[in-house]
Amino acid sequence: TNPLRIGLAGLGTVGGGVVALLDANAELIARRAGRGIVVSAVSARDRNRGRGVDLSRFAWVDDATELAGRDDVDVVVELIGGSDGPALTLARATLGRAKALVTANKAMLAHHGLELGDLAEANGAALKYEAAVAGGIPVIKGLREGAAANGITRVYGILNGTCNYILTRMEAEGLSFGAVLADAQAQGYAEADPSFDIDGIDAAHKLSILSGLAFASRIDFAGVAAEGVRAVDSADIDHAATLGYRIKLVGLASAADGKLFQRVHPCLVPLAHPLAHVEGALNAVVVEGDFAGRLFFSGPGAGAGPTASAVVADLIDIARGPAQPAFGMPVAALTQFETADQASH
Ligand code: NDP
Ligand code: HSE
Repeated sequence: TNPLRIGLAGLGTVGGGVVALLDANAELIARRAGRGIVVSAVSARDRNRGRGVDLSRFAWVDDATELAGRDDVDVVVELIGGSDGPALTLARATLGRAKALVTANKAMLAHHGLELGDLAEANGAALKYEAAVAGGIPVIKGLREGAAANGITRVYGILNGTCNYILTRMEAEGLSFGAVLADAQAQGYAEADPSFDIDGIDAAHKLSILSGLAFASRIDFAGVAAEGVRAVDSADIDHAATLGYRIKLVGLASAADGKLFQRVHPCLVPLAHPLAHVEGALNAVVVEGDFAGRLFFSGPGAGAGPTASAVVADLIDIARGPAQPAFGMPVAALTQFETADQASH
């Protein structure tokens, strides 16, 4: 079977992670996807920047939009970022040519997701965005597929790894906001403009995508009331701890009587609530379904590895095609392990 050929736009934290993951797990991915997934061509701003990965095997294009028109590209992966500009131009060009688009760009989806969804439908192309919300946690699949049969009453959670990392380390180590933010940036958690993180805008982007899926509603980013963590200081964190709470940046959406409530702000979370124990760059999302009950998704919400994991999961979905194998790959391709002596563990 022919490999699925990728055009990769953006070779920063996430793009670099995607190349590293496709290299490290190539064989496993090919078995699970039923065919190989290979990068054909790449684009970034600076061709000469050292990136710690061998790019000489890929074609280079200076203008990322060209990826959409290349004959050796079946799927474009957009990891540039920004709600408009080159990311949006590339997304439109890709879907307009009836090619699949995978993106981690929640800002673009919050502002233009409906237009891109329409374009994808009109052209019969896939638009996949698992990485756009909560990094490595498969919450898009969880909501869109796993909880699809439920009426959802509320969806809420910790949606920004940078803020959670800052609040966790301020509490645990008594560090200043600025010192921890610099570290979050060094770890690759923060947005290119970190005010999107600390002012709650990134969490608002994600919440608008989640509530669209949860309530089968049109994404309404403008309707999110957002406040970030800029005003939270160490004294607030200490007072909260004394009273049995942790301060967390929480996004919460609910729908009732034809009205959508969406807000992001710092919350006092009681220590008895599982969200209080989501630490560092982890995220968590709670989905309340009328039949499933309360579903709790948690895991790494930012960084190269977790985000690349979600991007490549979307690529595997596309490579598998519409008839998804029941056990993740053809039964004939499953491994027969030897049964271990169970007492020896
Ligand atoms: P980075 O800033 O690390 O990387 C951005 C990449 O885009 C860089 O390689 C840059 O090139 C390239 N780029 C910028 N402008 C252009 C252009 N005009 N044409 C082609 N390439 C361009 O960002 P991240 O990897 O952190 O984020 C990428 C996307 O993933 C964003 O939408 C972000 O919101 C999202 N995301 C990020 C997560 C994270 O943990 N970092 C988690 C989930 C989603 P150069 O390297 O030459 O400067
Ligand atoms: N800047 C984002 C965060 C990246 O800190 O959560 C993951 O979307």
